[in-house]
Amino acid sequence: MTTTHLPGSPFVHYKNDSLMMEEVALSQLIAEYGTPLFAYSKAAMIHALDAYERAFKGRRARIHYAMKANSSLGVLRVFAQRGCGFDIVSGGELARVLAAGGKADHIIFSGVGKTRTEIKAALQAGICCFNVESEAELDVLNEVALESQKIAPISLRVNPNVDAKTHPYISTGLKDNKFGIAHERALETYKRAATLKGLMIKGIDCHIGSQITEISPYEDAVSRVLDLVDEIEKSGIRIEHLDFGGGLGIDYAGETPPPADKLWSKLFELLDSRGYADRMIFVEPGRSLIGNAGVCLTKIEYLKTGEHKNFCIVDAAMNDLPRPAMYEAFHGIVPVQIDSNNTSGLVYDVVGPVCESGDWLGRDRSLSVQVGDGLAILSAGAYCMSMSSNYNSRGRAAEVLVDLNKTSLIRRRETIEDLIRQET
Ligand code: LLP
Repeated sequence: MTTTHLPGSPFVHYKNDSLMMEEVALSQLIAEYGTPLFAYSKAAMIHALDAYERAFKGRRARIHYAMKANSSLGVLRVFAQRGCGFDIVSGGELARVLAAGGKADHIIFSGVGKTRTEIKAALQAGICCFNVESEAELDVLNEVALESQKIAPISLRVNPNVDAKTHPYISTGLKDNKFGIAHERALETYKRAATLKGLMIKGIDCHIGSQITEISPYEDAVSRVLDLVDEIEKSGIRIEHLDFGGGLGIDYAGETPPPADKLWSKLFELLDSRGYADRMIFVEPGRSLIGNAGVCLTKIEYLKTGEHKNFCIVDAAMNDLPRPAMYEAFHGIVPVQIDSNNTSGLVYDVVGPVCESGDWLGRDRSLSVQVGDGLAILSAGAYCMSMSSNYNSRGRAAEVLVDLNKTSLIRRRETIEDLIRQET
């Protein structure tokens, strides 16, 4: 027997010619649950979480899973059971965390456009902190807190103006981005926040982008934030926690991001040298906890060969997995069962059935496949299901959680009735 590991996740591998997730053959999942289907490895999630926990051992720190990466209840429950907090960006996400058994006082609420209704719900639930993204939001938060006879715990999300060296759509820490409060305005804004009776200053927050594969942008951000904290504390305002956001990248196509423990041992050196060794540290990782734990399974419907291009038309599409269409993102695509007798290898664009030329999942992929074969789209745990839609009136895919040799359906496939239920 030979075992071949694929890039990214150590929990997705070939056993002889069969693609496995942990101890489950993915062909078996397709037979049981149909396609398109997302499958997540619980061990891969725990493995990713362990890297952060190793880094934070003996430190004052808390991990808040950025659930926008994947907000399915079955996934949230795994992180909640491990004691994670959650980074949320909407009232819907708040409700999901509470439904999954997450603790309200471990929730931080980010986002540039929190509504009064969402703020009220979060105050009633008793969340840990609002990450405030503008001066105008401070006033609204103060008003709603006073009306609700509550005190809102806050951090200001500062924009450190560092280049995360990632795709422009997922870079958030530059001056021109809509996120956060400009570095130069931060001290004044803290001073004003301190005068508002409905607010209690707790921390400072930054998040510079996503799919970051180098340590240096983090070092720049940490040091810019610490410069500010020095100034803010000199003015008499105490900062209890430092939140450095999420953003750590994963291996989609041979990228080599630092493991979370390596990144954080570097950042702790910096924190220690600047005299912040004992300060409470918050992080908000999303992709690095779930991205490589998931695959999207799909079936080949048609093979269409042409003069210039060959198309492998599958039953998953941009509505299930929008990252290639939105960011020209790369996801590995491999057969669920290798057929060594099939020597008809061709180079295909792997595309879905949606009526858009942008509906592609992979370009120029060498595959030896036939109609009816199953394919696995790799590294599909983060920002795939959570960004899926019903475009072309396609029901959303089903999801299963794999735990060693056990599988559980954590979301059933959407039916036509589900699709039209709210309409008249
Ligand atoms: N905290 C805040 C305030 C964020 O805005 C984000 C992501 C995170 C944490 C988590 O970042 P992560 O650790 O997952 O990189 N849809 C895009 C990614 C958008 C990220 C948005 N913010 C994609 O598919 O690449």
